[in-house]
Amino acid sequence: ATATEPYDVVVIGGGPGGYVAAIKAAQLGLRTACVEKRGSLGGTCLNVGCIPSKAMLNNSHIYHQTQHDLKRRGIDVSGVSLNLPTMLEAKDNAVTGLTKGIEFLFKQNKVDYIKGAASFVSPTKVSVELLDGGKTEVETKNFVIATGSEVTPFPGGAIPIDETQIVSSTGALELQKVPEKLVVIGGGIIGLEMGSVWSRLGAEVTVVEFLGAIGGAGIDEEVAKQFQRLLTKQGIKFKLNTKVLSAEKKDGKVFLKAEAAKGGKEESLEADVVLVAIGRRPYVEGLNIEAVGVELDNKGRIIIDDQFNTSVKNIKCIGDVTFGPMLAHKAEEEGIAAAEFLKTGHGHVNYNAIPSVVYTHPEVSWVGKTEQELKAAGVEYSVGKFNFSANSRAKTNLDTDGFVKIIAEKETDKILGVHIIGPNAGEMIAEGVLAIEYGASSEDIARTSHAHPTLSEAFKEAAMAAFSKPIHM
Ligand code: FAD
Ligand code: NAI
Repeated sequence: ATATEPYDVVVIGGGPGGYVAAIKAAQLGLRTACVEKRGSLGGTCLNVGCIPSKAMLNNSHIYHQTQHDLKRRGIDVSGVSLNLPTMLEAKDNAVTGLTKGIEFLFKQNKVDYIKGAASFVSPTKVSVELLDGGKTEVETKNFVIATGSEVTPFPGGAIPIDETQIVSSTGALELQKVPEKLVVIGGGIIGLEMGSVWSRLGAEVTVVEFLGAIGGAGIDEEVAKQFQRLLTKQGIKFKLNTKVLSAEKKDGKVFLKAEAAKGGKEESLEADVVLVAIGRRPYVEGLNIEAVGVELDNKGRIIIDDQFNTSVKNIKCIGDVTFGPMLAHKAEEEGIAAAEFLKTGHGHVNYNAIPSVVYTHPEVSWVGKTEQELKAAGVEYSVGKFNFSANSRAKTNLDTDGFVKIIAEKETDKILGVHIIGPNAGEMIAEGVLAIEYGASSEDIARTSHAHPTLSEAFKEAAMAAFSKPIHM
């Protein structure tokens, strides 16, 4: 192929969905380009999402632990202080290292990286407004749309984001000073992760959540309750069943009005900084999809079939901009499957085996069904639960909050759901995902040797509890 011939595939968006699709397509021998307008690869996840938030979560945890948890471990330290500029710099270095790494992977796999904003001209052509100035047109046999998502603004424009005093997650990763009082609107994943960061660094954090529980969609009720108790113990305040109505900036502060979710007396809250974390929505701005007739649903998501085809032949779509959980690893799975469909006509994503992780301390993770979902579906199940307080490694680590809960189908013992709150829950859930992927029973896990002393023995014992009885509890 020469440079003037159309590409086999052009991926629009270089986030976890798009960059993975592009690399996989190139690995499968397709002539591939990826158009990205941000100026760096990795999308929301690497630039302003997963990666910078985890850098801040990890380092704020170390700071907090150094201040509050070392003494009982026999470590005396004094003069601990926060150097916020250096902590922010460490975060930025992690981001730069990883986004540059993807550029390297593009070169290695011969993916052409086109820096600019793509806009549809026809089903086989986009015009690209280049970041370096000027415009070009790119032709291709196939497109994969992977344009991701953006912050959902507060309804009716009542609380406009300025990214310094009223921030989204992006601004919350860049605060140059620890706010005295931080009010977080939304007790979902972003609210709890970023609320934890600033609470550990010294802010007084209040989370206002519309629903009666924290953790966002898909969390197990029992886990959510325990989670709230543990975060409360760490100093975070919660106002559940409460709706924020408006915000007003005055004298360097923000004054919020809120009321009970079901209506009632108004109350006011004062904050130095407000984080709006009420969800994310699909992003197609500037893409000119109207020009090619790609259809959206009533939530603005691009409609696709089970092979990632949009309503337009030869245009596929993956990631946050279409259906399903807005998670980086879900977008990546779809990226691989979409590329495989293009090359071979086959590909697969098991949506029942996509894990969720909240990277607080302790971490919270889950995969598969909750008890509530199974009850609603009329499925009979057994539950095996094992507390970390009975796990030898958690005890030696002085880190015993939480439990592993395994839900298995009553009749077949097949594992249907795993819910963990506790140390290292984010790593441990991989075993649950594998179990569901391979259709394992709780007895399969219970009879699998787990190294001693490890936290993952709690996983085995929860499986033993689901199938018969645990040994250590
Ligand atoms: P995106 O990552 O949003 O990438 C889309 C890219 O397309 C963007 O870079 C955009 O610039 C580009 N683009 C858009 N339109 C055009 C155009 N017309 N032309 C060219 N380029 C275009 N998920 C997890 O799994 N784990 C986490 O720990 C996690 N933490 C998060 C923390 C925060 C604070 C946030 C906000 C999100 C987090 N997420 C996490 C979610 C995760 O970031 C997304 O699910 C993921 O990035 C989606 O990938 P994507 O490829 O679909 O879209
Ligand atoms: P979310 O959907 O997880 O949570 C939003 C919360 O805000 C919900 O609990 C909702 O009830 C509440 N809410 C909505 N309107 C409200 C109002 N007016 N007043 C009070 N509460 C209100 O969305 P969030 O936290 O913004 O995160 C967006 C997405 O980003 C997540 O769903 C997830 O897909 C992704 N993400 C994933 C992470 C991870 O995997 N660790 C980390 C951060 C984000």
